[in-house]
Amino acid sequence: MIRVESTIAGIRQALGPHRGRGAVGFVPTMGALHAGHARLVEVAREQSSVVVVSIFVNPLQFDDPQDYERYQRNLDADVALAGKHGADLVFAPSAREMYAEEAQTFVEVQGLSEHFCGAARPGHFRGVTTVVSKLFHIIQPDLALFGEKDGQQLAVIERMVMDLNFPVKIVPVATVREADGLAMSSRNARLNAEERVTAACLYQALLRARELVAAGQKDPRQIRAQAGALLEVPGVQVEYFELADPKTIQPVAVAIPPVRAMGAIRIGATRLIDNLICT
Ligand code: PAF
Repeated sequence: MIRVESTIAGIRQALGPHRGRGAVGFVPTMGALHAGHARLVEVAREQSSVVVVSIFVNPLQFDDPQDYERYQRNLDADVALAGKHGADLVFAPSAREMYAEEAQTFVEVQGLSEHFCGAARPGHFRGVTTVVSKLFHIIQPDLALFGEKDGQQLAVIERMVMDLNFPVKIVPVATVREADGLAMSSRNARLNAEERVTAACLYQALLRARELVAAGQKDPRQIRAQAGALLEVPGVQVEYFELADPKTIQPVAVAIPPVRAMGAIRIGATRLIDNLICT
């Protein structure tokens, strides 16, 4: 039976008997769980003796207050999904529990947060790394799982763990996709039927970039122009479509594999991101 805790003291107490008896696996989420999260929980289950899922819509990582308000919240459905895929414990604190007083301490990874989502959403990664640090201190996991769909977030967190010596192993998990290639995301539910069909263009553009790199094209401008043409679709606004060094997440001047093709688009009010490694 899955157990839900909403306080820091409660989750610490619930984890007490598990400490030292095998790995604590941790899947941090903002809820609105889908098949991508289910896969994270399943991988955690395979590698841990106790699996904790956190469900917390973190106000600190939203640059747009309306986006924060609109974020889907459905704790019962999320707990059911987490339990079905192997979670033992859910930590679902309120914003007041996590930030009892307005935060004066932040964690920030500099270079890796500079471009792409970092440039498009000022303060976003600072919010992510601050809350993930807090969650790591609260849960004290042995391993923590993150999806590759949020490739920049994954790189930023790996760097934070290295720089701050967190005793936690970061386990990347491959992106789960819909049949047409659209990466699973909580935001997909906001797309209407027409937008949902259009949304597959992002994956198509990333695939095209990967083909071009595999065929020996090394000029990022050529790749951006040819693959990015697939995003020239009515209703789609391109936020960025770039090739980046997979480790430093800086734009590359020459596309020598491996590079990461990264894109963010807006369809109506919905922002979608995705990436593919090009080897
Ligand atoms: O990827 C997410 O859902 C969030 O950024 C995370 C890691 C749970 C931090 O709030």
